[in-house]
Amino acid sequence: MNYSFIRYLESKKSVDDRALNQQAWQAFWEALPGSSRQFPLEMLELGAGSGAMTQRVLDSGKISTLMYTAVDDQPANVEELTKQSAEWLKNRPFINLFAEVNTAEEFVAEHKGERYFDAILAHAFLDLVDLDQFLPNLLELLPDGGIGYFTINFDGDTIFEPSHPNDEQILAAYHGSMRNPHSGRQLIYKLVEMGVDILVAGSSDWVVYPKENGDSRYPADEAYFLMHILNFFEQSLGANPDVDSNVLNEWLQARRKQVADGQLLYIAHQLDVVFKK
Ligand SMILES: C[S@@+](CC[C@H](N)C(=O)[O-])C[C@H]1O[C@@H](n2cnc3c(N)ncnc32)[C@H](O)[C@@H]1O
Repeated sequence: MNYSFIRYLESKKSVDDRALNQQAWQAFWEALPGSSRQFPLEMLELGAGSGAMTQRVLDSGKISTLMYTAVDDQPANVEELTKQSAEWLKNRPFINLFAEVNTAEEFVAEHKGERYFDAILAHAFLDLVDLDQFLPNLLELLPDGGIGYFTINFDGDTIFEPSHPNDEQILAAYHGSMRNPHSGRQLIYKLVEMGVDILVAGSSDWVVYPKENGDSRYPADEAYFLMHILNFFEQSLGANPDVDSNVLNEWLQARRKQVADGQLLYIAHQLDVVFKK
């Protein structure tokens, strides 16, 4: 199978749509100040990928005047976001989108103390950074009263059903290969410690299941999404000396067959948080 990261991000959209915490989504919109042509709201999204959250915000119909800056460190992702955005911006003359290839760390360092955003978004991104270093700098881009909306933050639990005898070993090694397998709960607690006002924090678990057992009928492109998740396992653990390659291969083979047969259930525990500085 050919693996494409952009196809993975696109296949993730329908999974995220089900997963996003609806109370946090509502609270995000309710907390935002008004936006006008004279004083448009400025939003920043970091690790925007091909623009899953960008599109969600623009297509929500909740805001018609906006300056939106999307940052990602991969040129191919920013190119795809820019290509797709022509459709999202149609008939939205007062929404301006700026897409930039940059690391989030560099972007924050360049603008700290000089530029402020009314809201900062990070979707399926903050579990990739060092929270202790990054979060205090990031919050300097919010004025007092600015809104943070951080979604799909992985938080330590992965479940596959039906169970497999190698699950415990594989899942422990996979979590061990992550920068921080508990970033969701730590993100919320660090925000509390930093004295911001948490408006809503709640679960946004991915739950991916076949519509009909045995019919390989996953919705949208979610069979591909699952295959790509299994590919992440192979990439992360293939060269890990603590994981026996026979154990890994047997597990991957069984899981891939279950996707093809429409039998695999996959759950990843994640958290969303919305806060006011
Ligand atoms: C899991 S993807 C999520 C992408 C998008 N938010 C979505 O959910 O579809 C993480 C994204 O962060 C980007 N990324 C990783 N490290 C980064 C960094 N240090 N600065 C900026 N972007 C980064 C990757 O290129 C990738 O597009």
